[in-house]
Amino acid sequence: MTMARSRRSPVTVPAVSTVPGAGARDGGARGAGVRPGGWTRTSLLGLEGLSAEELRVLLHRARAYTGGPDSVLEPEASAPLRGRFVATLFFEDSTRTRLSFAVAAQRLGAQVIDLAVASSSVNKGETITDTATNVNAMGVDAMVVRHRASGAAVIVDRAVGALADPARRRGPACTVVNAGDGRHEHPTQGLLDAYTIAEAHQRLETFDLSGLRVAIVGDVISSRVARSDIAALTALGAEVVCVGPPALVPPAIASLGCAVAHDLDAVLPGVDAVQVLRIQFERHDDGEARRPEGGGGAGGTGEARRTAASAREFRECFGLSEARAARMRPGAIVMHPGPINRGLEMDAAVADGPRSAVLRQVGHGVAIRMAVLELCIGARGPGA
Ligand code: CP
Repeated sequence: MTMARSRRSPVTVPAVSTVPGAGARDGGARGAGVRPGGWTRTSLLGLEGLSAEELRVLLHRARAYTGGPDSVLEPEASAPLRGRFVATLFFEDSTRTRLSFAVAAQRLGAQVIDLAVASSSVNKGETITDTATNVNAMGVDAMVVRHRASGAAVIVDRAVGALADPARRRGPACTVVNAGDGRHEHPTQGLLDAYTIAEAHQRLETFDLSGLRVAIVGDVISSRVARSDIAALTALGAEVVCVGPPALVPPAIASLGCAVAHDLDAVLPGVDAVQVLRIQFERHDDGEARRPEGGGGAGGTGEARRTAASAREFRECFGLSEARAARMRPGAIVMHPGPINRGLEMDAAVADGPRSAVLRQVGHGVAIRMAVLELCIGARGPGA
């Protein structure tokens, strides 16, 4: 295989910085922290920096919403967000995240308002912060934000937080939930992935993933999912190894707390779960990898372009084919955050095969988003 070897050294972790001093370290939330058995964060911007205890509070709450015997979903009576408004602001495309947040909010009794970005005043040049502060001024309780720029959710959270000033008759700041910002984080995806692995390996009682090994395969350098997965899975005790060509999985990715490998066939038989990432062609030329504030550069963009041109070689070395999946351990699962490039990073027979947990992931996404909305909005207090 000839592609994807970086010629620059050292390779640094690609651009993931958001706003200096905000967001990533503390999960980026106003009101950070957790009380015993409780949750005090009012926003969820990332998973990096969240404690295992905080993650477990969310996961246990989601478990109550999965429809099992202890489900609190069943009766109409359970609608903790009745009378609340959740706004969805998707400046970047989505199917799963957008709809599952809407389903989650409505199952909790909230009303959902969706900003149709394509026909909004964004087209007249309105900034994301002006858009967000105006939506907040309408009195919504939560804002779910997706944007192509890393750090967008942090910026929105700061903006609505800064403008909330009861003394000046401005309403309280709404909850902000990051639904995916550039290459930075996708926290609810990280949570639903952790949930899916816990379910597959009978860890739902504790959400302790110690002893489990998880491979994240493919376009890690472009992936906000990988960052949130690594943060959540390692905090919960799992070992994570990122696998792919050096241009997509540079050695510095290890600074996130995972191992790095370049031989999928050597790694696959030893893992309990594999998360296959979509090759994100659309991010390979977005310039984020070169942003100096992200410490990026290192040729990521150019290498990625070559990678895009080498899809066939990628598939040969790193695509999850039926033959490769057959060499996995009994009980090991195959995951993908979607959308899948079938026949590239994962074959259709694997995506739809017996090891696939892909639709389990999607289903868990609703319960996770219910937990996040309920707990973050609840942490704002009854008067907010
Ligand atoms: N996993 C995920 O974020 O999918 P969507 O882009 O469809 O929301």
